[in-house]
Amino acid sequence: MQKKPRLLVTRHMPVNVTARIRRDYDATLNSTDRIMSPEELVSAAEGMDAMMICGSEKITPALLDALPDSVRIIATFSVGYEHIDVAAAKAHGVTVTNTPKVLDAAVAEVAMLCLLGAARRGHEGQTLVREGKWASWTSTMLLGKQVSGARLGILGLGGIGQAVAAAARGFGMQVHYHNRNRLPQDEESGARYHATAAELFAVSDFLSISCPSTDETRGMVNADLIGQMPDGAVIVNTARGDIINDGDLIAALESGKLFAAGLDVFANEPKLDPRYRTMENVFVLPHLGSASVETRDAMGYCCLDNLDAFFQGKPCLTPL
Ligand code: DGY
Repeated sequence: MQKKPRLLVTRHMPVNVTARIRRDYDATLNSTDRIMSPEELVSAAEGMDAMMICGSEKITPALLDALPDSVRIIATFSVGYEHIDVAAAKAHGVTVTNTPKVLDAAVAEVAMLCLLGAARRGHEGQTLVREGKWASWTSTMLLGKQVSGARLGILGLGGIGQAVAAAARGFGMQVHYHNRNRLPQDEESGARYHATAAELFAVSDFLSISCPSTDETRGMVNADLIGQMPDGAVIVNTARGDIINDGDLIAALESGKLFAAGLDVFANEPKLDPRYRTMENVFVLPHLGSASVETRDAMGYCCLDNLDAFFQGKPCLTPL
């Protein structure tokens, strides 16, 4: 019988995914789920053929230099891959795969949760009830910003952005977007294209960030762009926290330029800017975008489908 490939799984995985890993691989699992240091990663990778990692593991050129040559493929349990130097991995002959598409619907659900939570003052409403401070119904209590009929700007109309657009249309929103390149008409589904981010922000009563974190997008949502938005707009982020300049967003939320923000992701997670914790007009979640049972299984299976293909000598399904 052929030997099973040796797989280092750096973080805890959902139960169904773990069962498949145990069945098909000679696996070393991280049962404690503690994030390993680079030194610990290198040592744990000794004798491995493959690694299955998460966003918590930074695959830098230095780490790639130190990894044993036996590691030939790294499958990341994420669509985002800013934690991996893909060019350096390629230079080392290491294949890298990610998990696109399978999480589009789940992340779009959380984008709508953040959008509605921010627009309709979800945090303040929850606090009133939970702290026993809700005295009575009044015609003016916690009035929010209506979503239906409003314009939603989507920064990055890829798979997740398109799923957000479909959900937003269900709420009667008019969808606008900006990408570096305009999409073919059938993928736009009626969304209106803006050639620059500034043009998009200028028509966005709501703005949802769905683009990856890259050298071009890091810090992009700053005072300049926020200043172009209609007064009382709402910003939603389910992509990566570092796309937003936190100081600029917080200033706009404090001044009333923005009505609210709905944030599932933050720079330096989990050590987010502490001001977000106490702001009434910020609806926050702890990076839950893809966190449904179905989607986390699908992400794990996507990693394993890639690894299976690789070790069967077939092309990977979603290589980077
Ligand atoms: C992703 O898949 O990139 C999610 O943000 C989880 O890390």
